[in-house]
Amino acid sequence: MTAIAERTDCSTDVAALVPVVGGATTVPLVDGTQRVYANLDYAASAPALEAVAARVTEVLPLYASVHRGAGYLSQVSTALYESSRQSIARFVGAREDDVAIITRNTTDSLNLLAGVIPAGGRVLVLDVEHHANLLPWVHSRPGQGHSATIVPIARTVAQTLRALADELARQPYALVTVTGASNVTGEALPLDDVVAIAHAAGARVAVDGAQLVPHRGFSLTESGADYVAFSGHKTYAPFGAGALVGRRDWLDAGTPYLAGGGAVRDVRTDRTVWQPAPARHEAGSPNVIGAIALAEACEQLAALPSGALHEHEQVLRDRLVDGLSAIDGVEVARIWSDSTDPVGVVTFTVAGHDAGLVAAYLAAEHGIGVRDGRFCAHPLLAHLGASGGAIRASVGVGTTSEFVDRLVEALASYLADGARSSYEVVDGCWAVVADTRPLIAVHGLDHLAATAAAACGPALDD
Ligand code: ALA
Repeated sequence: MTAIAERTDCSTDVAALVPVVGGATTVPLVDGTQRVYANLDYAASAPALEAVAARVTEVLPLYASVHRGAGYLSQVSTALYESSRQSIARFVGAREDDVAIITRNTTDSLNLLAGVIPAGGRVLVLDVEHHANLLPWVHSRPGQGHSATIVPIARTVAQTLRALADELARQPYALVTVTGASNVTGEALPLDDVVAIAHAAGARVAVDGAQLVPHRGFSLTESGADYVAFSGHKTYAPFGAGALVGRRDWLDAGTPYLAGGGAVRDVRTDRTVWQPAPARHEAGSPNVIGAIALAEACEQLAALPSGALHEHEQVLRDRLVDGLSAIDGVEVARIWSDSTDPVGVVTFTVAGHDAGLVAAYLAAEHGIGVRDGRFCAHPLLAHLGASGGAIRASVGVGTTSEFVDRLVEALASYLADGARSSYEVVDGCWAVVADTRPLIAVHGLDHLAATAAAACGPALDD
């Protein structure tokens, strides 16, 4: 077997082309041994690429104020920030007149977009969405003039597209905003169809690209979509930057996202003249290191052989779904019976077993990292009949077939023989009773008690 085949059975060894930081990090198990951490939680936050970490190290000595200084390094930092903006825009296939705004993450980007919808504009959204692409539309902030309609998802893609078209025919909409890939199941509506339906009705299209962009790549030009939002921390650049890229006119005219220095041309005590986008929405000192990190990740992913990332994730996803589906009592969630080509995100339930308990067992006894709960998508989890929570495994460039197999085998063993340790709920979080795992010795954890259980706090969003 070749090294490539050992990793994922793919023709291109993606993990070797874009290695991640910490890919071989070991974690303690309750039996006293250590195992390489099987990170199956890329959909939440992906590790940094080694190239991204190296780039950050390279530019840190050059770091200085951005857009504010005459000093040599201020000029260098400003140029690096602006060239990062261009790389990020290029990565998502921005048109020449599109604008790229550096934000904190997808949630930030979509809240920004919600603030620039022209007054009175209606927004159409499905109840399949992550809260980041739901709450900014249904809870407009003071001064925002939009209102939202939530269309319930139907059983099939075809029926859901028809429901969208019917609603668009009923009344005018400014914007249809859809996920490019569900953070729960990896599925999506065919974007070409959504764009065609929306544009035919005179509505623009925004894409929540949080899961699509890092897993597949995306092009505004090719898709015809009007906006895309995505996150650096899911795109192998966890340095606090994300982006909103798209049509300039709303972004030039809309209410500035943050009021403050850098967003203005001129301020008097009785009036303010705002900059156009992107500066209009980037008040305060920008996150230059985050932008440079994200740009580097974009360039690294763009340089992969065409289709390699897709194939890498597809092979792993298929292996995972096949393995899970073969276990009695495990059910893999699916939104639409006729959806095709999901990204590498898989959610499942284990009949009669609490998702949090199973996730804690996977971590403590097998060194596997998954997410459990409702994944910031409560309406979708209710639709899937999993309001009590589910387990999600997601893959990315550093995932190996061993991680996937380990998860499948650990689950099968749990259902056949049960867990070896005892578990209890502490502060809303499943933990090993009398956990003996040592904490990793790293500054910042020194104040905690000696066991990993002490580091476990209640989930902020289940
Ligand atoms: N939005 C991230 C997720 O789906 C955090 O896990």
